[in-house]
Amino acid sequence: MTRLDQLSQRGRDFLGARQAIMAGAMTWVSERHLVSAISNAGGFGVIACGSMTPALLDAEIAATRALTDKPFGVNLITLHPAMMELIGVCARHGVSHIVLAGGLPSGAAIAAIKAAGAKLMCFAPTAALARKLVRSGVDAIIIEGSEAGGHIGPVSLGVLAQEILPVITDVPVFVAGGIGRGAAIAAWLEMGASGVQLGTRFAASAESVAHANFKKAFFRASARDAVASVQIDPRLPVIPVRALKNAGTEAFTAKQREIAEAVDRGAMDLAAGQLAIEHYWAGALRRAVVDGDIENGSLMAGQSVGMVTREQPVAEIIAELVAEADAALHSRASPFESAA
Ligand SMILES: Cc1cc2nc3c(=O)[nH]c(=O)nc-3n(C[C@H](O)[C@H](O)[C@H](O)COP(=O)(O)O)c2cc1C
Repeated sequence: MTRLDQLSQRGRDFLGARQAIMAGAMTWVSERHLVSAISNAGGFGVIACGSMTPALLDAEIAATRALTDKPFGVNLITLHPAMMELIGVCARHGVSHIVLAGGLPSGAAIAAIKAAGAKLMCFAPTAALARKLVRSGVDAIIIEGSEAGGHIGPVSLGVLAQEILPVITDVPVFVAGGIGRGAAIAAWLEMGASGVQLGTRFAASAESVAHANFKKAFFRASARDAVASVQIDPRLPVIPVRALKNAGTEAFTAKQREIAEAVDRGAMDLAAGQLAIEHYWAGALRRAVVDGDIENGSLMAGQSVGMVTREQPVAEIIAELVAEADAALHSRASPFESAA
């Protein structure tokens, strides 16, 4: 067994995949083609439910199953109004892994997922919340640093990993954010992660259905182009989103101002304002990913975008990451270990 296989064994066993490499769910991007390609290549694909209806999710799971006999997961956003129905859809299909994103899950959602026999994975922004999630029955934790694409927390993976990996040992912990090369995978595994999750590197892969314009924007961009959105009104807390700078970035600031004014006038309450902002993002991401409007749409991307330079098939990306991780571990091994 290679050192990489040893270090990633817990994660591989948990996922039921050849490699402990998850492709994080990406709304509009992580659909049947990309998800099946990733699982078929030895990684672990995750369908992004986003704002899909239960009927659409039902069709997407069935279509993914038709393209792969390997395990894959489904990512559900806790704010979704039809959450319990979506869990029911996953249960009927016998989905093996459910990832809950977008805030702390309700006890009812956790219970329904456990009753369905699925393994439950949740994002934890702090060690205290990770402990709480584990106590409530969550089977694995994902920690995602602010380097990541899409909705982000305020803390980098480097810090989160130091705080959380040493104290959460009862369940596997997967790390996400800013991973572009296998050497980083090797380093996180050596620090105690059970596996990794990447989004940006897979978003512009050959099997990704994202528009050609969206992919080209990724190939041209460097790390510093992937910026976090700015919150303009302290009363209207906005979860920051990391995306490539474009006209849409400014439009988002204007949108927040518009919503804040509506809240001021009493035309909208705060909760409705926050929901309007979330809907804005989903629409803007669709414009970029599906329609190819890279000026006004949202080009969600992580800082690792600078390491995405050309369109590569998923299998090639995974093979490259594994080879790099292997090489990094080999070069770090002591002469005694290498000889053994
Ligand atoms: C275009 C895009 C859309 C995303 N959509 C979602 C989503 O719907 N749900 C979710 O949990 N994470 C979402 N993410 C985060 C990814 O699943 C993953 O955790 C993140 O991309 C990892 O960091 P990286 O981009 O640095 O590899 C998205 C990321 C990107 C780039």
